[in-house]
Amino acid sequence: MQESVTITDNRTGQSVEIPIVDGGVSATEWSKLLPGLWFYDPGFSATAECESAITYIDGDAGILRYRGYPIEQLAERSTYLEVAYLLLHGELPTDAQLAGWVDEITHHTYIHENMRKRFLEGFHYDAHPMGMLVSAVGALSTFYPEAKHIDDDDVRHKQIVRLIAKMPTLAAAAHRFSVGLPFVYPDNSLSFAENFLSMMWKTAEPRFQADPALARAIDLLFILHADHEQNCSTTAMRVVGSSHADPYSACAAAVAALYGPRHGGANEAVLRMLTAIGTIDAVPDFVRSVKEGHGRLQGFGHRVYKNYDPRAKIIRKAAYDVFEVTGKNPLLDIALKLEEVALADEYFIARRLYPNVDFYSGLIYQAMGFPLETFPVLFAIPRTAGWLSHWAEMLEQQTKIARPRQLYTGQAERDYVPIERRS
Ligand code: CMC
Repeated sequence: MQESVTITDNRTGQSVEIPIVDGGVSATEWSKLLPGLWFYDPGFSATAECESAITYIDGDAGILRYRGYPIEQLAERSTYLEVAYLLLHGELPTDAQLAGWVDEITHHTYIHENMRKRFLEGFHYDAHPMGMLVSAVGALSTFYPEAKHIDDDDVRHKQIVRLIAKMPTLAAAAHRFSVGLPFVYPDNSLSFAENFLSMMWKTAEPRFQADPALARAIDLLFILHADHEQNCSTTAMRVVGSSHADPYSACAAAVAALYGPRHGGANEAVLRMLTAIGTIDAVPDFVRSVKEGHGRLQGFGHRVYKNYDPRAKIIRKAAYDVFEVTGKNPLLDIALKLEEVALADEYFIARRLYPNVDFYSGLIYQAMGFPLETFPVLFAIPRTAGWLSHWAEMLEQQTKIARPRQLYTGQAERDYVPIERRS
């Protein structure tokens, strides 16, 4: 069988044969036959914007792999920082490499005092932590002006370390500020997850010791959220990064993209939805109203997965470990019922809508005491490793600046009308 497609321009009868490579066809070849004729693809549903060797997803089969390693194996046996190393470097680290990497991250967790005292404390008292995070990440570029030298490997590496290390510090600071609690400095004797929990929850005790099961759950959730190939926020990172802006500015754009309820804001929306449903008995009515077009079933559906999201399966299982420590989240029963009803319903079956990563993650976060507003922030911390991996990969590939085309549907040329003659 010929691994190619042939396109014929019916206006001229000319054809071009384009080879199929890695599951795609080159738009450059298309343009040779049809210059000035653009693909119309809103939301990039059928467009591969890049080649990437980082994450593999088979949405029909429900498969997710980082650098070839199945997410199930990483979830069971790895740690978030090891996964971050894997995403960035392409290989799992040796003992010495991992020790060096963890040491580097651990010693870049502090933020400049001006960032905390002047910048973060300047927000309104009820500022959403995600809004604070968008601005804080962007502001970091002013503290590290050398970050502009994106062609320098050492400089690039330093900013990657800084961003991964400082993200939990900024996230916790944003939360503490929004609830009126004093900032907690990082404790470099703790693991990445334990340190984050300490910065979130420490009060008067000299040293905060997180419950090991909860620290492990956070680390697991960080692994599951670390990357997901060309999603909305990663695309934002790449688009801004393609202009050769510094990584903090590009990352601020990625955080902003993650803020939306269709993306990283979905787990917050799931909890609001479950709370509004209120009881198991109300589930069928709620599902009916969704089918009638009154809103969406939050935490369901995915652009790529047309099967159970493999991350949702792992999280669903992990939820029970967390509830053993925290007590069961009363919304779990509503979520389980909702899943049961939706998965048996023709509307959801026909559209291949399954629970995604956000359907159960919010239940864990809430049981652990995280306020709803911090949920997208908890997503942004680990996704930073993914964003930076794609950013670094893109720079290595010397890609062009992102600049899509449009199909113009506006007015043809017309003359300016003075205001007194406009009706
Ligand atoms: N509830 C009800 N109907 C839905 C849902 C849903 N959650 N998702 C999709 N549909 C319907 C949609 O109405 C459409 O129906 P029809 O063909 O009759 O018009 C059909 O399914 C296809 O939907 P779509 O909007 O074309 O699908 P999409 O690929 O553009 O959207 C999505 C993907 C994730 C934005 C969407 O499924 C959604 O809004 N889900 C709820 C929000 C959510 O859980 N987001 C988290 C995504 S996973 C985490 C992340 O990557 O950030």
